[in-house]
Amino acid sequence: MTRTVVAGNWKMNKTYADAKAFVENLLVQNLDGLECEVQLYVPAPYLNELNQLVKNTKISIGAQNVHQESHGAYTGEISVEMLNSIGIQKTLVGHSERRQYFNETDELVNKKTLLCLESGIDPIVCVGETIEERTAGITKDVLSNQVEGALKNIDTSKMKNIIIAYEPVWAIGTGQTATAEDANAACKFIRGIISNMYNDEIAENLVIQYGGSVKPENVTEILGQPHVNGALVGGASLEFDSFVQLIG
Ligand code: PGA
Repeated sequence: MTRTVVAGNWKMNKTYADAKAFVENLLVQNLDGLECEVQLYVPAPYLNELNQLVKNTKISIGAQNVHQESHGAYTGEISVEMLNSIGIQKTLVGHSERRQYFNETDELVNKKTLLCLESGIDPIVCVGETIEERTAGITKDVLSNQVEGALKNIDTSKMKNIIIAYEPVWAIGTGQTATAEDANAACKFIRGIISNMYNDEIAENLVIQYGGSVKPENVTEILGQPHVNGALVGGASLEFDSFVQLIG
């Protein structure tokens, strides 16, 4: 059975003290019975310290973005080599906010994804349509282009290290969640693309998350869908109590 992965994306939020207290509180919860994998994508300055805290626990810590070159004269950027050097093995790639505010294209997302996989870093590759694209009835075209673009030249053997997050842009941070049926249909559609690009087995084993205003009130229904294998959560991952409910 495909595993379930619930990931928090803190974005540009929390002081170090708040972030540390959150993780420490999480670690004193009884996590033995957890049925999902738990990941937290935290601000870059806190990666190392928080990663030390979660060593040998069920929680893993990842970055929110990484540069497409492994090192060099790119002031202010973070590289896969840097992540590797502090033992971080996960990152988000192509989040819609990166696409929207930092002009990340499918080609760039592909470069980042390839470099991550070459470097032993597991990416969550984010895709999703805008409200204009949805209204224009081109959601499937957008998803095909984004998924095929992001995974171009990615070897079958690396597919076990990828997660895809379906995050309709209109549902992110808006309180407007896709219905569980819509989320399932989109994740199913993405699985079909993977099956065409690779094979049925790769497609069946791929973790596909839904993201966009996931909260304790809707998480059970969303995760109950057969094609949804997890959630990528922004707002509701910032509040300790709601995050604990999401993973419980
Ligand atoms: P949200 O964000 O849960 O606040 O909608 C999701 C995301 O951006 O990954």
